[in-house]
Amino acid sequence: MTMDIQSGVSLQGMTTLALPGVADWFCRVRSRQELDQALAFARDRNLRVSILGGGSNTLLQQQVPGLVIQLANHGIELVVEDDTTVILEVAAGENWHQLVMTTLENGWYGLENLALIPGCVGAAPIQNIGAYGIEIAELLVCVHTIDIVTGASRILTAEECELAYRDSIFKQALKNRVVIWAVQIRLSKIPRVKLDYPELAKAMADSVRPDPVAVAEAVIALRQAKLPDPAVIANAGSFFKNPILPMQQAQQLLAAFPDIPHYTQGDGSIKFPAAWLIDRAGWKGMRRDHVGVHDRQALVLVHYGSGTGTELLSFAAEIADDIRQKFAIELEMEPVILGRGAP
Ligand code: FAD
Ligand code: EPU
Repeated sequence: MTMDIQSGVSLQGMTTLALPGVADWFCRVRSRQELDQALAFARDRNLRVSILGGGSNTLLQQQVPGLVIQLANHGIELVVEDDTTVILEVAAGENWHQLVMTTLENGWYGLENLALIPGCVGAAPIQNIGAYGIEIAELLVCVHTIDIVTGASRILTAEECELAYRDSIFKQALKNRVVIWAVQIRLSKIPRVKLDYPELAKAMADSVRPDPVAVAEAVIALRQAKLPDPAVIANAGSFFKNPILPMQQAQQLLAAFPDIPHYTQGDGSIKFPAAWLIDRAGWKGMRRDHVGVHDRQALVLVHYGSGTGTELLSFAAEIADDIRQKFAIELEMEPVILGRGAP
């Protein structure tokens, strides 16, 4: 059976920023056979291929050339189990938060701090998703990839994925080169909790039941209190990465702004919250036509509707310029741009 590949498809409703953008070609793949057909279609026509998951870290520009493939393969398989550990193989198209909930229901622990992150499983290694003191790097076993040009399968170990803060090989050497088809993660049957993140520790301080399910509930409550629900106000979570500065530059910043929160890294460099910088610079809650800065979390840029990717990018550039001037810090954007602006 040949699959349905459509031309001129709007992706606006498939991304949480809900900006306008039309793909030359679009298809949704559910099986390996469909993926092979889609890649062959692109190869035959010399089309550029872009991959879309849940669209929660994607900034759409008006025109998206080539073929956009949305992954919709499903399945959670138990591949290894012993007394204390399980390894699951999860299809890229599975919803991340549903996976977190399913693992907790089965008594498999480790993902609880990552509850309520939007998007699909296949995107998790791309920017090494992290929240409340955990990154997927700590649980990832390997990633099953498929080369976009040759169709060849390759399994990358977690180490080969070069995971770092909001970074991986998939944002560097393998950028736009592979499809992540499935990931394997290692979880524990022992209900240990990780409460290093001060805000989470505080939320759990009075908990009578400090187990992983309670941690997930606390994380969900914290997130709901400060992050806008994309179904209500369009956004892509944090718009900038938190800057990590070498020790000397960090000390200068701390001398100038002694009250800035900071987190010393293993190598002596120091991570600073971009939210604090943007908040301190006076941008929190500011609105510019169709876009703005969220009023409860200054790192989240929001789209109120009827805006464009170009408009949001120029607003973000204005914020980044101001932060450069006030703090001598270069902010780096977190979401990935898909397409190009109107000519
Ligand atoms: P998409 O936006 O569809 O894609 C993102 C990038 O990954 C694109 O470059 C795409 O090409 C690529 N990609 C996606 N799937 C595949 C695949 N299978 N193979 C190859 N490439 C692929 N992130 C965090 O790390 N921590 C948070 O706490 C967090 N909170 C958020 C809160 C909100 C309200 C929102 C809207 C976003 C948040 N994010 C957070 C960002 C986002 O949820 C994550 O980056 C998530 O992993 C993106 O998944 P997605 O499927 O939506 O990716
Ligand atoms: N802060 C402010 N003003 C604000 C918001 C925060 O001063 O408006 C200060 C807070 O007081 C706190 C610090 O900034 O001291 C950090 O804030 P928060 O705990 O909200 O986390 P964040 O650094 O803004 C990061 C991730 C989030 C993740 C949370 C929780 C990045 C870029 N963002 O945000 O991930 O959920 O920590 O771990 O690392 C995402 O990547 O999309 C995302 C939402």
